[in-house]
Amino acid sequence: MSPEEGAPQTGFDGRNVIIAIDGPAGAGKSTIARHLARHFGLLNLETGAMYRAFALKALRAEISLDDAAALQTLAAETSIRLEPGDEENRVLLDEEDVTGFIRNRTVTDAASKVSVFPPIRAWMVRLQQQLGADGGVVMEGRDIGTVVFPHADVKIFLDAAPEVRGLRRFEQMGPSPAIQPEEVIRELHARDERDRNRADSPLRPSSDAILLNSTDMTLDEAVAAAEAIVDERLSSPRTAGKGIR
Ligand code: DC
Repeated sequence: MSPEEGAPQTGFDGRNVIIAIDGPAGAGKSTIARHLARHFGLLNLETGAMYRAFALKALRAEISLDDAAALQTLAAETSIRLEPGDEENRVLLDEEDVTGFIRNRTVTDAASKVSVFPPIRAWMVRLQQQLGADGGVVMEGRDIGTVVFPHADVKIFLDAAPEVRGLRRFEQMGPSPAIQPEEVIRELHARDERDRNRADSPLRPSSDAILLNSTDMTLDEAVAAAEAIVDERLSSPRTAGKGIR
């Protein structure tokens, strides 16, 4: 679908819009971002997939995940590209399609670890700013509204109680996962702590983000609520199109 198809009639060029979706794991960011991108005719960019791809490279190279210098050297010789798709992004690590290798538990944990280092974050932020430079994007992550696009047209901070997020993750794992729900909740909690407490751009809502807590909502209800927020923001001429600076 071209960016303009399905764009809201707001009196400005919908292609320039930047929608930032931030929040912890399992809050429904991916589902909501995917829906908003389809509905408003925008590209959906999953920044977590970039940290995951880099973590995969570090694991393959057997680099210690707390060796900041070695990670920085590795980053200097790494290329990561996201190609937006209908369901998920295609992730290219040094031109290898690693989309199918980055969602397992080992890479998930490693992504959270490598993302604490400022040089790694600075590199990723630069790449993400280039990806979204022309607008027409929904970008989801942890620091999109605070660091990557502080002037985004719409910022939503999604949250939900840790138990609810953990159970959602567990249910997404299929019919008989080799892990107990309690373990999923525990791992998610550990990752949350790291993402929220790192010194460089910790996960937190931007002061002008709209908070959406989906603890007592179904994902469908959360999607509808997010759509209503975006509709409302984009139909206000004051906020429209200021994402690009
Ligand atoms: O969104 P995700 O679960 O795929 O992200 C994986 C990890 O990457 C997450 O634990 C923290 C890191 N991350 C980040 O630090 N900043 C982002 N914008 C996106 C992800």
